[in-house]
Amino acid sequence: MKCAILGPGGIADDQHAPAVNAHPDAVLWSVLSRSAERGADFAQRHALQSPDPVHTSLDTLLADKQLEGVIIATPDRLHEEQAVAAARAGKHVLLEKPMATSLAACDHIMKACDEAGVTLAMAYHHRWHAGHRALQRQVADGMLGSLRHMRVHWTFEAPDGGNWRSSPDTGRWWSLAANGTHCLDLIRWFMLPTEGNITDVRCLISRAKFASPHDESAIVLLRFASGATAEFSVSVQYASDPRVEIYGDEGWIRMENTLGRHGAGLIIHNDQSVAFHQHNPFLGELDDWIQAAREGRPPEVSAEEGRRNIEWLLKAIEASGEDRYTGV
Ligand SMILES: NC(=O)c1ccc[n+]([C@@H]2O[C@H](COP(=O)([O-])OP(=O)(O)OC[C@H]3O[C@@H](n4cnc5c(N)ncnc54)[C@H](OP(=O)(O)O)[C@@H]3O)[C@@H](O)[C@H]2O)c1
Repeated sequence: MKCAILGPGGIADDQHAPAVNAHPDAVLWSVLSRSAERGADFAQRHALQSPDPVHTSLDTLLADKQLEGVIIATPDRLHEEQAVAAARAGKHVLLEKPMATSLAACDHIMKACDEAGVTLAMAYHHRWHAGHRALQRQVADGMLGSLRHMRVHWTFEAPDGGNWRSSPDTGRWWSLAANGTHCLDLIRWFMLPTEGNITDVRCLISRAKFASPHDESAIVLLRFASGATAEFSVSVQYASDPRVEIYGDEGWIRMENTLGRHGAGLIIHNDQSVAFHQHNPFLGELDDWIQAAREGRPPEVSAEEGRRNIEWLLKAIEASGEDRYTGV
């Protein structure tokens, strides 16, 4: 698949471009940047293969008949317009998390992709962490018995308050969009098969460090149909080691430093270390998208999953009682 990257920023540079170049059925073809210079630098660094690889206009990038798919790695509020345009141009879409910043935007994207018959996959790469994958199947098969509680903790320290997630023009949430959406996806992936849908949410947020209009920290509590509970705490105010814990009637799992980009970390099940092969999760999600498009099957992390995630992020920020979002 000939792929373009929209937004040659952090995650595109660090993960998506190397993953496309490492995939035997993918070609890194073109890039969209607001700056021709930044685009050219990216094109050179990652050896883009189109004879005309750098675009500062989405329309000209999408007009390329050879282009087959786009990886959208731009600020969250741009996802809707770019994904809809890509679908209407007949391009498959691998869309970075969170899917969009409203349910109406999710519906707009899904409708455009359905009508165009293109494959839309959500980039929740932790589902391709080899250890997570093996355990998710075993937990769904009852390894821990009935699940009682899951806890996810993931933070980092932003250098200042200037991140685009802090602006209503480009973001809707900050900590909840940077890390919280991943935590929620993991919790839903592990808990839903045996514990039913989420029924309740509570949330506390803090904006004490940068005076951001958006959440700098969030602590989210969830309850499932079975009565099982979960919590996640995310922050951009301080650094810490990420951690995932799952508790059931027949044991527990603890995962240390498995959240992040590299498919690494330590997993313990009832005091025993769990072995897994470290595998690049971005390559896994890319491969699933390409194969899904080729086979005409749904991707593993579908648009419906992306939309459900947005639904609960919105309910969480509403439950905080402190939503100050001013975007429309
Ligand atoms: N899966 C993951 O673990 C993961 C990790 C990080 C981020 N993400 C997601 O990937 C997307 C991009 O995040 P990122 O961390 O890569 O952000 P980033 O480093 O800021 O890169 C975003 C790029 O989008 C382009 N852009 C276009 N319009 C922009 C605007 N108005 N403001 C800022 N940038 C704009 C910029 O490129 P030009 O200036 O060259 O146009 C920029 O380099 C987000 O949806 C984010 O949630 C996912």
